[in-house]
Amino acid sequence: MEKNSKWYLTGICLIGVVIGIVFVGVLTSTVHWAGSTKFCGEFCHSMDVVYASYKAGQHYKTGSGVTAGCSDCHNKNHSNKEIGPFDYVAMLMDKAQAGTVSLLGQIQGTMSTPEKQIAMRKELAERVHEHMKAQNFSTCRGCHDVERMHNPKKPFVAKLHAGFGPKAEKPADCLMCHKKAGHDYDAGDKAFAEAQKTAAK
Ligand code: HEC
Ligand code: HEC
Ligand code: HEC
Repeated sequence: MEKNSKWYLTGICLIGVVIGIVFVGVLTSTVHWAGSTKFCGEFCHSMDVVYASYKAGQHYKTGSGVTAGCSDCHNKNHSNKEIGPFDYVAMLMDKAQAGTVSLLGQIQGTMSTPEKQIAMRKELAERVHEHMKAQNFSTCRGCHDVERMHNPKKPFVAKLHAGFGPKAEKPADCLMCHKKAGHDYDAGDKAFAEAQKTAAK
């Protein structure tokens, strides 16, 4: 084939497009895998007790069966339905940062055992809470539009939340009232201890 024939150029472009598609596919599936609840909760042993408390929290099992995973709440833009390329990059950076914290924790041994994880909990929980407050609970809001709540059986709920929208003058602290939204630590610790007892038998 002639080097500068039309077919030659078309061929090069096609190969480029195919490589591009495969690359994006590999990248996104790796990102999804590393950000999946299974990876965060099971593969990463620095999260054993955290995972148990998540399973006891309000989003592992729900009335409708629609659930939320680790990344939905912990990673910027993850739960937002419409995100552009810049938001996606911000999400990747946020993910890399979250991954590094637990990887470093694992390597340094600061979170290597359930006891150490529980000892670190208060500090980490506060850090997460502050981070969420600073972002005005944007990850929760990606799924919950509190200004569009409608539950005929409990009309007071919509009324109560009407003033908690993203642009409210006084920002709402969802966790103040929903302490077990992400994790139920008491129930989680109990379940974790039970599971260990059974495993030791
Ligand atoms: C990926 C989407 C998603 C994210 C992110 C999310 N939620 Fe939810 N949430 C849900 C779904 C789905 C339900 C269950 C709704 C149903 O079944 O009626 C739910 C239920 C709830 C409930 C009611 C639970 C119950 O048992 O009655 C509360 C409270 C709540 N979420 C608060 C929060 C808060 C606070 C955050 C942020 C820390 C958050 N949610 C993040 C999707 C999400
Ligand atoms: C001042 C306390 C308070 C704050 C702040 C608050 N909520 Fe609630 N929320 C409640 C109460 C009370 C209920 C009703 C609980 C029930 O029915 O058992 C509720 C219910 C819900 C439900 C379940 C609705 C349903 O019909 O099942 C969701 C979802 C929810 N809140 C999300 C949020 C999110 C997201 C925020 C932050 C933007 C937030 N809430 C802030 C008190 C609060
Ligand atoms: C519905 C939202 C939500 C989901 C889903 C969720 N979290 Fe959280 N997470 C929170 C909130 C809110 C806090 C702040 C502490 C608290 O619960 O009061 C937190 C705190 C944490 C902390 C610091 C405190 C501690 O326990 O060490 C870690 C680590 C963590 N989450 C990891 C995870 C992992 C791993 C998953 C998935 C297996 C997960 N989270 C799922 C909302 C969530």
